[in-house]
Amino acid sequence: MELSNEDFIRLAKTIKAKYGLNLTEKKYLIESRLTNYVLDCGFDNFTEYLDSVYADRSGIEMTNIISRLTTNYTYFMRESEHFRHFTEVFLKEAEERIEDKDLRIWSAGCSYGNEPYNFAMCLYEYFGDKAMSWDSRILATDISFNALRMAKHGVFTEQALQELPDEWQRKYFTRHVNGTYQVTDDLRSNVVFKYHNLMDPICFKKKFDLIVCRNVMIYFDEQTKEELVNKFYDATEPGGYLYIGHAESAPKNMRYEIVQPAILRKPLEKGDEDDE
Ligand SMILES: C[S@@+](CC[C@H](N)C(=O)[O-])C[C@H]1O[C@@H](n2cnc3c(N)ncnc32)[C@H](O)[C@@H]1O
Repeated sequence: MELSNEDFIRLAKTIKAKYGLNLTEKKYLIESRLTNYVLDCGFDNFTEYLDSVYADRSGIEMTNIISRLTTNYTYFMRESEHFRHFTEVFLKEAEERIEDKDLRIWSAGCSYGNEPYNFAMCLYEYFGDKAMSWDSRILATDISFNALRMAKHGVFTEQALQELPDEWQRKYFTRHVNGTYQVTDDLRSNVVFKYHNLMDPICFKKKFDLIVCRNVMIYFDEQTKEELVNKFYDATEPGGYLYIGHAESAPKNMRYEIVQPAILRKPLEKGDEDDE
């Protein structure tokens, strides 16, 4: 089914404005990924279907489109260098610096939850018995309602767990009779899943010590990426970090320092530097 140029331009503009996704070169992708879906919804052309999407004030139908045009691909231990840095550098520094033991971590674009659960496992491993004395709940957000629903359940196949150490598989998952594995209640209660569109203002109460936003900005153009990274910067504590995907480039204009590939840091404020 063909998408007219007029419908394509309007849809691409709407999606860019609301979700930041750059679809300028993706007319064929939209046609191929949406045709069967539009037919299944009972429409025989894009124009009528899109009119109904724009008229849907709940926005749910638009998120159905988004989930068909983007990927939720994720897996445990993805980009393991981040987990090494998290344990060997970030948590050590945080333990020394954060006096009120309120650790603020945000997994932005968390998909099915592998990423925030994986950081939660590292936290438990690092703190051991001291874990209870820290408020270390991880905020995990996404725009895909389906991914968030699955993430909250925390149910994974045996194959999905393969990259995790055997001991972690035993410690942090419960095997169900149907052969699937569910993240333990304790670990699940340490991750708070919420809907958040990264194009919206960041209104969380406190600043973050670590923001993890990996393999999300691949969809954004340079300007959108720059604006988002600047928003992240304002929401980061001095001395805090931003982890991005190794395949992503940091924007040219930004205030974070690049510590190593895909690891950015907000400099400490003057007085803090002298204390280090
Ligand atoms: C490829 S997955 C990456 C998951 C995980 N961060 C990782 O690296 O494995 C990208 C996720 O970003 C989410 N996403 C895309 N645009 C977004 C936006 N504007 N706001 C919030 N999440 C978004 C998608 O729904 C998807 O779940």
